[in-house]
Amino acid sequence: MFSELKVKEIKRETEDSVSIALEVPESLRSNFSYASGQYITIKSLISGGDVRRAYSLCSAPFEVDFRIGVKKVMNGKMSTYLNDVLKEGDSIEVMSPAGNFTVEDGVISAVGFAAGSGITPILSMIKSILNEGKRFTLFYGNQTALKTIFKKELDGLEQEYPENFKLHYLYTKENANSPLYEGRINKEKTIALLQENSELLNADGFYMCGPEELIMNASDALKELGVDSNKVHFELFTAPSVSVDDNKVVSDFTGESQVTVIMDGDEFEFPLRADGDFILDASMENGADAPFSCKGAVCCTCKAQVLEGKATMDMNYSLSDEEVEEGFILTCQARPASEKLVVDYDVI
Ligand code: FES
Repeated sequence: MFSELKVKEIKRETEDSVSIALEVPESLRSNFSYASGQYITIKSLISGGDVRRAYSLCSAPFEVDFRIGVKKVMNGKMSTYLNDVLKEGDSIEVMSPAGNFTVEDGVISAVGFAAGSGITPILSMIKSILNEGKRFTLFYGNQTALKTIFKKELDGLEQEYPENFKLHYLYTKENANSPLYEGRINKEKTIALLQENSELLNADGFYMCGPEELIMNASDALKELGVDSNKVHFELFTAPSVSVDDNKVVSDFTGESQVTVIMDGDEFEFPLRADGDFILDASMENGADAPFSCKGAVCCTCKAQVLEGKATMDMNYSLSDEEVEEGFILTCQARPASEKLVVDYDVI
């Protein structure tokens, strides 16, 4: 599942963020092909513990670079390691790109809302869209220009594509020429920005990435302005703080299930109670090298499909309704809900 990739270049983007280019050897090219908006999971042994984190690719598939953006977060083991310890020439363990936050075919004009490191997948999308002759308008919130990740690259794209790329920075600690283009991207601000640029309401897709607050605010604003929810896409970087009960599916099944997990062609069988461990933890306990990253229902790395029986999830912030209907589950959140359950990790 994990492959060892060599670090080709580490570029300091801001005081507390870097972008890291990895070398993908010819033999792994097909495993590491990706769509703009997807992420990779990195695994590392830090202070004796197995730490895994997902990072979005900021490069675009048509570029030679295979690059992620990493902002150092307070007490973040992996982000501190990647910012302060990792060196060019080192190798790291990386899982193939994954994720549903991608641009659909047929999108000709798109609008993005990003804040802080949420720009990472959006930057990849912008490059792909512009490269295909399509249009993108970005509203990007930060504290100051100096703290704005990928500012130089975005400014370069604005110069290269003056017709197709409209770039609006909003700073919370710096003034702009107009009060509309400064301050936090909250719901009122989003509504005002879109009313000022009302042609954007006809865009084919709206893409948001950043803290939960930005996503909730921008989604509410778009809803209020009558934008079709099918056009609105977002990627949460952390699990939402809203009540988990909103997404919890309750099952009547309370007993013990006979679980079969299929992984890399092998089958692992074990009993598991509905109120016991999650399927991911139980699978690993019973010998399966199951994939995971956030363990918080956000990243989708632990996705598998139920082939027989039923499972319920405590939380789900990344699988689409269609995927759930097709029997996909986030195993880090899933529990058995039938006497027999067969879960397949290999179908992904
Ligand atoms: S490990 Fe991230 S959603 Fe399960």
